[in-house]
Amino acid sequence: METILEIKKLNVSIQQKKEWHEILKGVSLRVGRGECIGILGESGSGKSMTMKAAMGILDRQFKTEGVINFKGNEISKLSSESRRRMRGREMTMIMQQPMTAFDPLYTIGYQMEETLLTHGIKNRRERLNLCSSIIEKMCIPNAKKVLSQYPYQLSGGMLQRVMIGLAMTLKPDVIIADEPTTAIDAITQYQILSEFKKIVAEGNTSVVFISHDIGVLSHVASRIYVMNSGRVVDSGELSQLKVNAKDNYTRKLLKTYEQLRCQYDVQFGKEAVC
Ligand SMILES: Nc1ncnc2c1ncn2[C@@H]1O[C@H](COP(=O)(O)OP(=O)(O)O)[C@@H](O)[C@H]1O
Ligand SMILES: [Mg+2]
Repeated sequence: METILEIKKLNVSIQQKKEWHEILKGVSLRVGRGECIGILGESGSGKSMTMKAAMGILDRQFKTEGVINFKGNEISKLSSESRRRMRGREMTMIMQQPMTAFDPLYTIGYQMEETLLTHGIKNRRERLNLCSSIIEKMCIPNAKKVLSQYPYQLSGGMLQRVMIGLAMTLKPDVIIADEPTTAIDAITQYQILSEFKKIVAEGNTSVVFISHDIGVLSHVASRIYVMNSGRVVDSGELSQLKVNAKDNYTRKLLKTYEQLRCQYDVQFGKEAVC
């Protein structure tokens, strides 16, 4: 499978009180075209930081070393302006805190339409139809009302789903979804995950799915990278990890997952074997 995004030996550190603290230590991972990979790890393990570094959106206060290759080019060498141009069109990250991605002064509908317009959808009716269908596809009730509302009137989870829906419509090469199904009910979670699976099945868009939930990742990701304290401690298909996980933390997660698997199988519509 063609590699679309590759992170090689990524180190990120931050200076605090004149001392450098390492946050990421030699993180390497690769994403194939049309593949969905999962990044698994508990809070603070470095999942978001890894993908923000890949996107080139870390503040100047962070020192970054390592290589990021995207579509065969070493983008870690590019100017910040060139990297900015790639974002949205070629690589999109749906943040854990989506409020920052919206302008508080404009309605959701206006901002969605603007995004669609920038991506070349010139026909107004087409844009309006797309806006409504995105809201519906993302399981947000009352599309008409939502489109006329302002960002503060929607929950973080709803805003995140608006972003996911837009990204899926615009189909960049890579969508990075940072904990996109946290704090939503099981049915909605199942539907959102199904949308991710659909877009991956089309074959052109790759997804990096960040989660602390192995059950969710087992449903969408073909391979999983496990992070702990700023390092990748295990990687591979879930079935491989079950046999040869090296890290204690991974083994602990797998054990809990096995105990809860029945519940996940029911939740994600698989035939439960328990
Ligand atoms: N602005 C910051 N300043 C200092 N440390 C930070 C900052 N942002 C994140 N970190 C540290 O980096 C580590 C990884 O954070 P993050 O990638 O957000 O974790 P995750 O997404 O896995 O929950 C954490 O230990 C966190 O404390
Ligand atoms: Mg995070």
